[in-house]
Amino acid sequence: MSTLKVENLSYSYKNAAGEQQVLKNINADFKSGKMYAIIGESGSGKTTLLSLISALDKLQNGDISYDGKSLRKIGAAEFRLKYVNIVFQSYNLIKYMTARENVQIAIDFDNSKANPNDYLKQVGLSEEEGSRLIGKLSGGQQQRVAIARALASNAPIIVADEPTGNLDEDTEEKIIDLFKDLAHKQKKIVIIVTHSKQVASHADQVLRLRKGSLNKS
Ligand SMILES: Nc1ncnc2c1ncn2[C@@H]1O[C@H](COP(=O)(O)OP(=O)(O)O)[C@@H](O)[C@H]1O
Ligand SMILES: [Mg+2]
Repeated sequence: MSTLKVENLSYSYKNAAGEQQVLKNINADFKSGKMYAIIGESGSGKTTLLSLISALDKLQNGDISYDGKSLRKIGAAEFRLKYVNIVFQSYNLIKYMTARENVQIAIDFDNSKANPNDYLKQVGLSEEEGSRLIGKLSGGQQQRVAIARALASNAPIIVADEPTGNLDEDTEEKIIDLFKDLAHKQKKIVIIVTHSKQVASHADQVLRLRKGSLNKS
């Protein structure tokens, strides 16, 4: 079993009004094979926490490690490339490529012979939609492409920020099942920030971010 460990993690933003501490000494273990939901009011720091876990923001105080290897040692670029797959809305989708080409990149990276259409189908996108440029898809469809790419990738950690935010209930159900499979069948560490009670109810563990602290809900 693998563990993503968050230790004594604190984070502050500096702005005109001064310094705002968003995360205060957070400790958490995320295990492979489990799906975690992080909930909390708007502005509680959920996206900040995910950005740190996915090495998009630089650590200030504290540390994040995967199986005992510190993100500081691995390096942010390497961590993003090999360890973590990020499902932020439209984040990192390559706009001048089609949906299918975006998924193909993840497949090529793993030297696999998989067919991108299979992953697109799993998230409910047709071959015709797969052949469209990213900009010709709705926000919800772009979200699905990002999820299809996570399905195709070999990264052991999947993080998602409000992955079902733009989706209807039926699609939400399907997407929840996909994330559950990623955790339970493919034994990935799945961490989802969500406002959806439906998503949270399917998580193995729900964590609430409040006043800078992360606690079991
Ligand atoms: N780049 C930034 N610069 C300054 N303050 C920020 C920045 N990003 C977020 N914040 C502030 O940090 C707090 C937490 O934001 P965020 O992590 O986006 O919360 P959530 O995702 O839970 O809504 C908010 O008060 C927000 O205004
Ligand atoms: Mg947010």
